[in-house]
Amino acid sequence: MSQDQQKQRAAAAALEYIQPGTIIGVGTGSTVNFFIDALAGMPSRIAGAVSSSEASSRRLAGHGIPVLDLNSVAGLEVYVDGADEATRGMHLIKGGGAALTREKIVAAAARTFVCIVDEAKLVERLGKFPLPVEVIPMARAYVARELARLGGQPVWRQGTVTDNGCDILDVRGLDIVDPVGLERAINQIPGVVTNGLFAQRGADVLVIGTDAGVQTLRPSGH
Ligand code: 5RP
Repeated sequence: MSQDQQKQRAAAAALEYIQPGTIIGVGTGSTVNFFIDALAGMPSRIAGAVSSSEASSRRLAGHGIPVLDLNSVAGLEVYVDGADEATRGMHLIKGGGAALTREKIVAAAARTFVCIVDEAKLVERLGKFPLPVEVIPMARAYVARELARLGGQPVWRQGTVTDNGCDILDVRGLDIVDPVGLERAINQIPGVVTNGLFAQRGADVLVIGTDAGVQTLRPSGH
């Protein structure tokens, strides 16, 4: 089975968390694209979606699913998004698609974050995937020096401008033993909009598409 088929499996399984008639949060990326397409096929539709990127908004609208402003909704029951890396402890690296800031905002506004991934995304420790950091353009070089002081090797993702008009630094070489602490430390650097560690608020449910079927993980004790 291909990686795309695993993504599609995870995306289809996430429909079980969606109540018809509700407003949900929708993330960004190829796995989420499968989810949006699956949503469009639900016999009873959702009322609308708050989207984490212009790309997802276009895809949702293309299926006739109303796209709503986060400011116009009181809160979200569910947010569905992919990840670049995920641990069994529900910590994530996200932002491969440069949508990390809006993704973090919509995830924060949701009661339940359902993360959908193919099995290659599951890791013992985060950090092999370069950690995306969104930065205000004028602060890019300064932030890069500070990230190097934290032990990383930042590389400017040239040619990418985020939906917020900002730059992305991809930080290689991080062996992330304390995801919560590192997420906090990077966010303290002036000029950082946010970073792709989702550890302070990780996933609540991890839905993994595998060749054998779908595996669902929840934090221990839940
Ligand atoms: C976008 C993201 C995506 O969730 C992440 O990059 C995974 O993408 P894909 O589903 O295409 O593997 O964080 O900013």
